[in-house]
Amino acid sequence: MYLDNFEVREETLLTPLKIAQRTTFLEWDSQPTLFKHYPHFCYRISLHDIEALEWLSQLRCITSLRTVAQKPYYQLNVPSAGNLHPLEVYVQVRNVSGVLCGIYHLDVVSEQLVLIQEIEDDGVELYLGLTNRFNGFMVMLSIVPFRSSWKYGLRAWRYCYLDLGHQIAALNATVRHYGLELTKMSHYEGNGLNVSMGMGDEEYIAAVYGIGGVGTRPVKILKNNLMCVAPTNYTMKDDKLSSSIRNTPLYLEEYDVTQWNDYAQINRSRRSAREFIASNANESAIDSLLQKSVPNSLEVIAIVMQAHSMHLGIYRNGEFSTAGNYQDEVTQLLLGQRFIAGANMVLLIYAQQFTAHSHIEAGIYAQDVYLTCEHHGVGCSGIGAFYDNEGSKWSNNPLLYAVAVGGKS
Ligand SMILES: Cc1cc2nc3c(=O)[nH]c(=O)nc-3n(C[C@H](O)[C@H](O)[C@H](O)COP(=O)(O)O)c2cc1C
Repeated sequence: MYLDNFEVREETLLTPLKIAQRTTFLEWDSQPTLFKHYPHFCYRISLHDIEALEWLSQLRCITSLRTVAQKPYYQLNVPSAGNLHPLEVYVQVRNVSGVLCGIYHLDVVSEQLVLIQEIEDDGVELYLGLTNRFNGFMVMLSIVPFRSSWKYGLRAWRYCYLDLGHQIAALNATVRHYGLELTKMSHYEGNGLNVSMGMGDEEYIAAVYGIGGVGTRPVKILKNNLMCVAPTNYTMKDDKLSSSIRNTPLYLEEYDVTQWNDYAQINRSRRSAREFIASNANESAIDSLLQKSVPNSLEVIAIVMQAHSMHLGIYRNGEFSTAGNYQDEVTQLLLGQRFIAGANMVLLIYAQQFTAHSHIEAGIYAQDVYLTCEHHGVGCSGIGAFYDNEGSKWSNNPLLYAVAVGGKS
């Protein structure tokens, strides 16, 4: 049962009727576990013990831990719809001084690499179109759909890919901050990588990047499939969601994200705004967001709702296009989420095509917006909940995502 992109959009639409029909309340005690853990007997290396691994501690990390309803409440450097974090990170390490060559899981809680399997003349390279061994790191990002579908049902499809885009942008920014470079992989068709990586049927590798270089020695296919460890403590499978994610080709594109000198700090201090105070906004920073470059697949329409030094109304391609007060309309579009009425500007992210990959690119762009805002002391929040059909008011393209921007409270 495979959904094409048109069906995915139709089946995941939010409409006023669907919202009104939502009668169930979530039992937070039944939330599936947020982090995957490999068995205790696996060899582990602290990311802080070896200099060459330090960058991995910024890639995906816990940046806030509180107790909510007697349970730990983690927040990470990357935002996530509903704070559900349906992603995991794996790293193949080869010829890195002081580190056993092998395939590792990034354990975000303990800030360790956990060795799943050693490698020698074998590895994942052949799945990615490389016939020689790749020296350095191959970072594989997987999606665990149930973490998100537990709350959002099939609409989780959108959030998994938007979240993935945020994580890819964080990878890109982290790598560059450490003076390293990403190597683009070419794609090899098929599900072989998932099987070899021991992903089972609850998790799918969705994007892969190299940091290092292709060597001269040939590589063989992995001698043994990796052990299979469930990514959540329980699961309820949604065949439509899983098969759609399983059948989506790996995302291998590269986008430059803005580099900031204070990246190490803003990567950890960024939070999603829960309230805005428009009068606190740094308007020149908000204005500068209008000039930010946008991936070719996307169209970004900015709606300025409150400002002293900018015209209120609609901006297309960074240019002012239509004057007006759209505060009520935009707040209503975004499911009437009250705090949005206090924002200075909402960026509406459309794409020419409604695909998994355009959602990833929307997430990449939005993470760049998050970091730009944090650098300038401005608040923002990704908004994945909106009435799809009302979003068509301002563009013929489908609306994928929005980011509300405003003065910090
Ligand atoms: C794809 C995506 C969709 C989101 N949608 C909403 C939303 O509709 N409303 C909202 O208030 N926050 C939304 N958020 C923000 C999350 O609630 C927030 O990232 C999460 O609670 C974690 O908090 P943090 O970003 O401060 O770490 C979204 C974030 C992402 C990445």
